[in-house]
Amino acid sequence: MQELGGLVESGHGTAEFGRAFVTPSETELSILDGWFAEGREQVWMSHGDHVSRIAPGFEVYGTSPGAPFAITADVSRHFYAVQFHPEVHHTPKGAKLYENFVRLAGFTGDWTMGAYKDDAIDKIRAQVGDGHVICGLSGGVDSSVAAILLHEAIGDQLTCVFVDHGLLRLNEAEQVVTMFRDNYNIKLIHADESELFLGALEGVSDPEVKRKTIGKLFIDVFQKYANEIEGAEFLAQGTLYPDVIESVSFSGGPSVTIKSHHNVGGLPEKMGLKLVEPLRELFKDEVRALGRELGLPDSFIGRHPFPGPGLAIRCPGEITREKLEILRKADAVFIDQIRKHGLYDEIWQAFVAILPVRTVGVMGDGRTYDFACALRAVTSVDGMTADYYPFTHEFLGETATRIINEVKGINRCTYDITSKPPGTIEWE
Ligand code: XMP
Repeated sequence: MQELGGLVESGHGTAEFGRAFVTPSETELSILDGWFAEGREQVWMSHGDHVSRIAPGFEVYGTSPGAPFAITADVSRHFYAVQFHPEVHHTPKGAKLYENFVRLAGFTGDWTMGAYKDDAIDKIRAQVGDGHVICGLSGGVDSSVAAILLHEAIGDQLTCVFVDHGLLRLNEAEQVVTMFRDNYNIKLIHADESELFLGALEGVSDPEVKRKTIGKLFIDVFQKYANEIEGAEFLAQGTLYPDVIESVSFSGGPSVTIKSHHNVGGLPEKMGLKLVEPLRELFKDEVRALGRELGLPDSFIGRHPFPGPGLAIRCPGEITREKLEILRKADAVFIDQIRKHGLYDEIWQAFVAILPVRTVGVMGDGRTYDFACALRAVTSVDGMTADYYPFTHEFLGETATRIINEVKGINRCTYDITSKPPGTIEWE
């Protein structure tokens, strides 16, 4: 706007963050087709700077209480400007603006995930040639979709390494191995190193030390197995677009490191490998669409995200084999409950954390002195912000009863109703 002769200023108490409602002005605007059916539209504001004077040729087409120039345009030149964020979930009709924009710009809007897939396969083949690629598999959606895409592109030139750190959920390792080795016929090394990881974590209770210990070992182990793969030249990573832009925050400054997420960063240079990142232009929902295009079952694609350090960060305090065993069982019951009630797809992520406290209970005639656990279930779009899921009291009561009856070692259940911010999704 400033480039065109308007004025953008900061301060004066006009910074806005959060939900706002835009109402239309008298004149209609074709980019707003489908908007304002109910008189006003919800939008998401997140700005410190604001437009205080619009550029010559621009007119106002929408205002909000905090933004007199919420929607402006110079129709003769086909310039459109909004003060809010049309790209986020909390601007429910934001996508419609893009759709209208594409139409007005004269494009057909016929981009499909099928075409993206074919293009991605061509790019992988061009990059890799007849070289060999190693891909770390976590069992999560991103690395799985990357692996299957790579497999379609280069077949046997791909070897996957699945590092099992002993911090996975109930039966998870078997499920991953069966799916990739048996169903997809992908070359897969199952590196069962749980003893190594759990040994190194003995006595560790600080969350950052846990993450760093797991991250460092993960790299060592991965490197050990990768070195055994002859002729490997490339390392594939399921890096997504949000990872690429992670260092950019809304305020323009670098984001603070809240938790040091572990990945194989730094490994390619150390091992002399070149990187292949076939998902780096995609958002999570697009990765899921690509997964569907590649024939991955919906039950797999819709799986909740699972953190790299696994159950270690759902076990505040010291990690012991006993606690992990209890946690796995409780988590399985909670997820089973969620599935049985048809809520799995409504929830972004759900899990149990085993708490480092023992509480007194009474079961039958006896006193118990067992662990307490916390159930966590959130709704979110990208994990950056989240809200707790509003289960009914019946659901919570039934789930607590099931966990306490079915899982020996737990005698108390709590439900975590913290949103993010101020909390985080995981407990550590
Ligand atoms: P938080 O707890 O930061 O989590 O609100 C946001 C999302 O990130 C996941 N998460 C991790 N993923 N390594 C990962 O790969 C990590 O260290 C890690 N910590 C949190 C978390 O499960 C949620 O989906």
